[in-house]
Amino acid sequence: MATANKQLLLVAAVLAGLLLAADVASARRRPVHLRVYMHDVIGGPERTAIRLIWGVGPPHATMPGRTFGDTVAIDDLVTAGPSIGSRPLGRAQGTYMLTSQHEEVIVVDITVVLTAGPYNGSTVVVVGRDRIYDDTRELAVVGGTGMLRGASGYVLWRTAKVYSEIHMALELDIHASLPVPVPVPVPDGDDDTDAE
Ligand SMILES: *[C@@H]1O[C@H](CO)[C@@H](O)[C@H](O)[C@H]1NC(C)=O
Repeated sequence: MATANKQLLLVAAVLAGLLLAADVASARRRPVHLRVYMHDVIGGPERTAIRLIWGVGPPHATMPGRTFGDTVAIDDLVTAGPSIGSRPLGRAQGTYMLTSQHEEVIVVDITVVLTAGPYNGSTVVVVGRDRIYDDTRELAVVGGTGMLRGASGYVLWRTAKVYSEIHMALELDIHASLPVPVPVPVPDGDDDTDAE
């Protein structure tokens, strides 16, 4: 009987330990939410996107004039609102490539550098598959630097507004989490180390 009780206690203790560990693990990340807009300007004097590879691959099945592998380099303005005149927050720098031969799909690979706001000086790295005519696409947050170091999560990516044939605004609804530094254990004071 006593042994059974001890075993029960042990099981309870192990379960409590597991729960505590799970709780600590989840507490070690904190959520970050950012919503920004990116302006892709593909022509004219204010252009921020250039065609690197264009018309090299075989014609795309459903996009006239486009070929598989078409690639654009971007240095797009990032703003707080969907209008290009709204508060500038940074730049989105990277590439996108027409990576499906049959579907309207590009693969995006960008680093968003923030130059204003609470994350000024930090970057967030976004990559993923963008099926361009879907209402909402999901891309991945795969990292970050500065105050966004270790970021991971996802981006809900939408075409916010098509202003003209050469200017489109994209909405990046960024849901990520950051590791919270684990506090260094404080010695309990009764040790006999002779520091100082
Ligand atoms: C962002 O940080 C840089 C470097 O610390 C600073 O020069 C600049 O004024 C900051 N920008 C804003 C809008 O706070």
